[in-house]
Amino acid sequence: MASNSGTATRAGFDGLVEKLVKLASTPSKLFKLAFRMLPGLPLGWRVRFDAIQGAPYAYGIYKAALQAKALEIPNITAMEFGVAGGNGLVAMEHIADAVERELGVGVRTYGFDIVEGLPMPRDYRDLPYAWSQGSYKMDEKRLRERLRRSTLVLGDVRDTVPEFFDKNDSPPVGFISFDLDYYSSTKEALRILEHPTERYLPRVLCYFDDTLGHDDEYHFDEVGELLAIKEFNARHEQVKLGKINGLRYKRCIPDQWNEGFFVCHFFNNPLYNAHVSRIPTELPLV
Ligand SMILES: C[S@@+](CC[C@H](N)C(=O)[O-])C[C@H]1O[C@@H](n2cnc3c(N)ncnc32)[C@H](O)[C@@H]1O
Repeated sequence: MASNSGTATRAGFDGLVEKLVKLASTPSKLFKLAFRMLPGLPLGWRVRFDAIQGAPYAYGIYKAALQAKALEIPNITAMEFGVAGGNGLVAMEHIADAVERELGVGVRTYGFDIVEGLPMPRDYRDLPYAWSQGSYKMDEKRLRERLRRSTLVLGDVRDTVPEFFDKNDSPPVGFISFDLDYYSSTKEALRILEHPTERYLPRVLCYFDDTLGHDDEYHFDEVGELLAIKEFNARHEQVKLGKINGLRYKRCIPDQWNEGFFVCHFFNNPLYNAHVSRIPTELPLV
């Protein structure tokens, strides 16, 4: 029988081989790495080439900020549901710095989490075959040391989401990352989109991290995040979550995160019909 340390070494070796094969068979990944190393590359180009830590966050916050700029909205809110150790939220902070510097749009960042890790799954729709209670427990002290500018909203989203706008005078929401894993948690988190329309940009960029997943996760719209999205749309007439169709074809370097991007359309927002096609995306290279 193999020892535990032997099994771990083997798994590490297998993972390394897999990574190297993926890198060699996808030359675009090498481009990304090369672009990442280029000093002084403007944010617009970093977003275009995914040459940045936290590419989906960068795409979502940058696109939201461009929309706000075109609509002359000075500040936006960016949220992450599911913070854990904070890798995503820390990346969002760096992106917020760059957006403020380069586009002149202020970005306020919030992170929601229950602290003790994944709660007890409620039923099969939470995919207990893929996730288990207690995973991703947060070290709150360590997380606070890593964060510079975010507000943490701690507690079960079932309690924190309904009271969020009463307690926070946040600018219009422009970007939300949903990374709570479960159907039940995502369903509660989506209530953040059920407040008066002035709380949002006309179109809120939404990233759902758990719609593709690993090889052994089988996502579809009867379980997990995709079910929560389907039910949200069924409940609303004037607010709809729509997948960005074919996003991978619009990207210079397609990636699997492209599959998880939706936009929440607020048809009843007074600015929904304002023309924004002249958003200045063609930024100079230097
Ligand atoms: C996959 S982790 C998030 C990872 C994180 N986005 C990152 O960048 O590392 C999922 C998180 O969702 C949180 N979570 C799940 N259900 C929740 C709920 N009902 N309320 C609040 N947080 C919840 C868990 O505590 C866990 O930290």
